[in-house]
Amino acid sequence: MNQPLLVLAGGTGFLGRQLALHFRQLGYEVLTLTRRAKRFGEVAWDGRTLGPWAKMLEGAAALINLAGKSVDCRYHAVNRYAIVRSRTESTRVLGEAVAQCQNPPAVWLNSSTATIYEDTTGAAPANTEAAGRIGRGFSEMVAQQWEAEFNLAPVLPTRRVALRTAIVL
Ligand SMILES: NC(=O)c1ccc[n+]([C@@H]2O[C@H](COP(=O)([O-])OP(=O)(O)OC[C@H]3O[C@@H](n4cnc5c(N)ncnc54)[C@H](OP(=O)(O)O)[C@@H]3O)[C@@H](O)[C@H]2O)c1
Repeated sequence: MNQPLLVLAGGTGFLGRQLALHFRQLGYEVLTLTRRAKRFGEVAWDGRTLGPWAKMLEGAAALINLAGKSVDCRYHAVNRYAIVRSRTESTRVLGEAVAQCQNPPAVWLNSSTATIYEDTTGAAPANTEAAGRIGRGFSEMVAQQWEAEFNLAPVLPTRRVALRTAIVL
């Protein structure tokens, strides 16, 4: 029987390494899209432009996109720009690749962040998915642009899930 395929874009990092391990244990073939492919199961991409990597998505059970410049840096203009662009551009090009598939992935989970919600302090009610207040700071604006790019992708047959992840320990 064919193994189900999981494609992990930006899967070399903290979350991706754990997911790869987990899904391999469940019997999935896992392919990781990375800018520095060197190991078995890693496929080269630049996170911005279409290339031979796009064919890997054909018939995949799932695509999970974790790509994005680490936010563990000083928030000066150059880093802010890279934080936004690494997320919106990788999401956009994945949308283009999925849209080209004859047999697109059944589901696409794209990273987002719980920091789409405004900070709550004191007596303010906690944000929930149903009634969270969307913030207007830099990180909240990144999250909104990231999700907008995801929602604009022309990939109707593929189920989309934005992962509003809080800090993972
Ligand atoms: N960890 C958390 O607590 C947490 C919480 C909320 C949201 N998130 C989001 O979840 C995603 C994964 O988190 P993580 O902790 O696993 O992050 P991570 O360890 O920093 O890994 C992110 C991966 O993105 C790729 N990347 C970095 N810059 C890129 C660029 N300019 N273009 C394309 N790819 C680039 C890198 O892969 P290569 O260098 O191999 O290309 C890297 O392995 C991130 O988008 C993050 O914002 C994480």
